[in-house]
Amino acid sequence: MRIDIIAVIPELLEGPFSHSILKRANNKGLFEVVVHDLRKFGVGKHNKIDDYQFGGGAGMVMMIEPIEACINELKAERSYDEIIYMTPDGVTYDQGIANELSLKENIIILCGHYKGVDERVREHFITREISIGDFVLSGGELAAALIVDSIGRLLPGVLGDESSALLDSFQDDMLAPPIYTRPSEYKGWEVPPILLSGNDKAIDDWRNDEAYKRTKDRRPDLIDRHG
Ligand code: ADE
Repeated sequence: MRIDIIAVIPELLEGPFSHSILKRANNKGLFEVVVHDLRKFGVGKHNKIDDYQFGGGAGMVMMIEPIEACINELKAERSYDEIIYMTPDGVTYDQGIANELSLKENIIILCGHYKGVDERVREHFITREISIGDFVLSGGELAAALIVDSIGRLLPGVLGDESSALLDSFQDDMLAPPIYTRPSEYKGWEVPPILLSGNDKAIDDWRNDEAYKRTKDRRPDLIDRHG
């Protein structure tokens, strides 16, 4: 899978993909993330990418020409399944969308900045608009990093243990059960004995019960969603 990110501040994306499991995935050829500096496609000798809002009002608007130029350059190389715009007024991101996106071949992510993009970009180029929550960031780069991370770890072979992504919180609209490691007793605080019993069936049942209890307690909305 390949993800191309169009950024106003590409430096913000240097860190997240040059460490961690995503770097390993990249080295193994499983997942390619390429960041593009929108300013390289800017207009005129100052490489302008934003301009004043028609009708007046504070804040600059990202112009359509540089964005189209960048998208066209990418599209000339390969076809894209989605062109996503990161914006606080998009659909709220969740594990379901992460799962869906992880099945795509090529994706472009456009990071918003300033007041946002000229509406014609949204109308004519964008296939999906995503928000990472009801708060406003100074730009879409960190939001893009977050969704790229969540997609990358779902790709087959990216996580060491193939099954571990399936057991994540939210994968079945359930939070994950409590987990423990050695020592089995620390300062008198004991690990639930069932986990040391070696009885796989009992352990599975315990995990399912605990996941349900935790979800009911912390996120009853997830359980209500399914009646
Ligand atoms: N850009 C600014 N705020 C954002 C948010 N909450 N989600 C996605 N992109 C954004």
